[in-house]
Amino acid sequence: MSKSKFMLSSLLMLAISVSQLGTANAAESTVGINVANGETIFNEGKGDAAACQGCHGEKALGNDDMGAPRLANIGQAYVIKQLTDFAADRRIPDGAGSAMNGFAKALNEQDRRDVAGYLYTLDYQVDPSDLKGLVANGNKVGKPELGEVIVTQGVKGKLPPCQDCHGFNGRDPRFPAINQQKFVYLVNQLNNWRNDSRANDPTVEKVGIMRRIAKNLTDDDIANIAAFLSTAPRVSPGGDTNKK
Ligand code: HEC
Ligand code: HEC
Repeated sequence: MSKSKFMLSSLLMLAISVSQLGTANAAESTVGINVANGETIFNEGKGDAAACQGCHGEKALGNDDMGAPRLANIGQAYVIKQLTDFAADRRIPDGAGSAMNGFAKALNEQDRRDVAGYLYTLDYQVDPSDLKGLVANGNKVGKPELGEVIVTQGVKGKLPPCQDCHGFNGRDPRFPAINQQKFVYLVNQLNNWRNDSRANDPTVEKVGIMRRIAKNLTDDDIANIAAFLSTAPRVSPGGDTNKK
C-alpha cells in the first residue's frame, strides 16, 4: 500500500471510530466554569487582553473584513485548546490575528476556560458571509454547490468527507463546528494547514490530520468549500446539530 493510501485509510478509520462514539461524549462539561467571568472578558477584556468583541463581533459571529472567526458555538473544548496553543506559541497567526498570542498569554487557564464556556452558552445565530460583497471586494469566491459535494462526499481515493469528523460536533469535542464559520477565515485556515504555517492539529501516524487533508485541496476546492460552509444552514454537514 502506498504511503498516501495508508494515510487516507488511517484518517477514515479515525473518522469511523469517532462516529461510533455515539452520543456518549455529547455534553461539553460546564463543571468549574464561571460563565459570568467569561462574559466580562469577552466584552471588556482583561489586563493586556483586549476585549474579544472588538474583532470577533458583539455576538462572537466573526468578521470577514478582519479575517476574524466566529467563536460562538464552535465548541468549548476546541476554543480552550486554541487559546492554550496561542499562549504556548504552538499556533502563530499573521495579520490581525497575530495579537492572539499575547491576548492568550494575558489570560490564565481559568480565564480561558471561562471565556470558552461563555461562548458555548450563547444562543445559536445564523450569520452567513456576504459572498457577493466579498466578490465585489476582489475575493475569489467559489461555488457553494461544489463545496457541498466535498464536505458531504469527499473525493474518492483523495479526500474523506469533511462531515465524517466535523459532522459529529457535540459528540467528539476535538472537532470544531465549521459551518457558519466566516469565509475569509476558512480560506486562511485551509491555506495555513496546506502550507504548514498552522501546525497545531492532532496527528495520526505522526502526520497532522488537517495538514494532510489540506495538501489534497486545490485553490478552487478551498474557495468552493468556504463558499458552502460560510453560508450553510445550521443543520448541515459541518454543523453543530446536537446542541439545543
Ligand atoms: C485585534 C483583533 C482581535 C481581538 C481583540 C481578539 N481576537 Fe481572537 N482572533 C483574531 C483573528 C484575526 C483570529 C484569526 C487568527 C488566524 O487567522 O489564525 C483570531 C482567532 C481566535 C481564536 C481561534 C478560533 C478558531 O476557530 O480556531 C480564538 C479562540 C480567539 N481568537 C479568541 C479570542 C478571545 C477569547 C479574545 C479576547 C480575550 C480575542 N480572541 C480577541 C482577532 C482578534
Ligand atoms: C479525520 C477527521 C477530520 C476530517 C475528515 C476533517 N477534519 Fe477538519 N479538523 C479536524 C480536527 C481534529 C481539527 C482541529 C484542529 C486543532 O485542534 O487545531 C480540524 C479543524 C479544521 C478547521 C479549523 C477550524 C477553526 O475554527 O479554526 C477547518 C477550517 C477544517 N478542519 C476544515 C475541514 C475541511 C474543509 C475538511 C474536508 C475537506 C475537513 N476539515 C476534514 C479533523 C478533521
